[in-house]
Amino acid sequence: MNTSKPKLLVARAMFPEELFRLNAYFELELNPDDRIFSPEELCDRLQGKFGMICTSSAKISADLLSKLPELKIVSTIAVGYDNFDLQACTSHQVMATNAPDVLNETTADFAWALMMATARRVTEAEHFLRVGEWKKWGVDLFVGADIHGSRLGILGMGRIGQAIARRASGFGMEVIYHNRSQLSPAQESAAHHARYVDKETLLREADHLILALPYSPEAHHIIGEAELAKMKPSATLVNIARGGIVDDTALIRALREGKIAGAGLDVFENEPRLHPDFLGLKNVVLTPHIASASERTRRAMVNRAIKNVIAAVRGEVPPDLLNR
Ligand code: DGY
Repeated sequence: MNTSKPKLLVARAMFPEELFRLNAYFELELNPDDRIFSPEELCDRLQGKFGMICTSSAKISADLLSKLPELKIVSTIAVGYDNFDLQACTSHQVMATNAPDVLNETTADFAWALMMATARRVTEAEHFLRVGEWKKWGVDLFVGADIHGSRLGILGMGRIGQAIARRASGFGMEVIYHNRSQLSPAQESAAHHARYVDKETLLREADHLILALPYSPEAHHIIGEAELAKMKPSATLVNIARGGIVDDTALIRALREGKIAGAGLDVFENEPRLHPDFLGLKNVVLTPHIASASERTRRAMVNRAIKNVIAAVRGEVPPDLLNR
């Protein structure tokens, strides 16, 4: 009788003390040095594995899956799963799971942090002070835009978008949003009475626009030159969703030419490589994809992925199965 446990790859380094309970079910292969595997190495490491816990850095393609007949589940700790070819997962009978919900509030907090830092020019002002340029208080020193009393626009009104909207109540803001479909009246009322508008109106009327939609081929460059040209010159743009939703080259041009006042960006096309021109711009706040990075939330994301692979190995339906 074969009593060996099924094998699981944990493709990135993550909280060993949370992973510990996987030992009861799996023979684990870890990546304590947190290397990013090339597609070839990922394929080698996944040979003979029942499953994998991963992040957005693991690309799961039809080609990869065709070489992994024993693989049963790929489980990302992220809510976004644009790194999975879901159709290919389904046709190879591989379950794909993500980690929704647990990061909504933390990500919404960070969207606000970026919006406020951008509108009030926090990082630009801090840099000015650190390099010794502050000589006197000035009436017009780093004047920015108000958050309170302004109009918040949200593109993508899923659970994260709604959490962002709820926070507007303390700031006396009006909230407008655009989404694939309009929310129910009850959801709108819970989201600080957010008002559904078409995309044109959202771009034209928002004082601060936050992008909170998932990446999909349809969402590629949904914010490009034409969209940026419709925004107010005083507006700020925040992206906590995915690189690729914004055309970075068009955004750099718009920031340089004052088509919009500023941008707060946590995600980028081709991250972790940034378009180098971002670094020379003062009116942009740049962070390295950390919107969900609170200690409690990152642990919760890992635990959600753990729950999914344990359910799969027990022959149960993983709670966050994407390809039912
Ligand atoms: C997510 O959960 O999708 C975050 O962006 C981390 O990848």
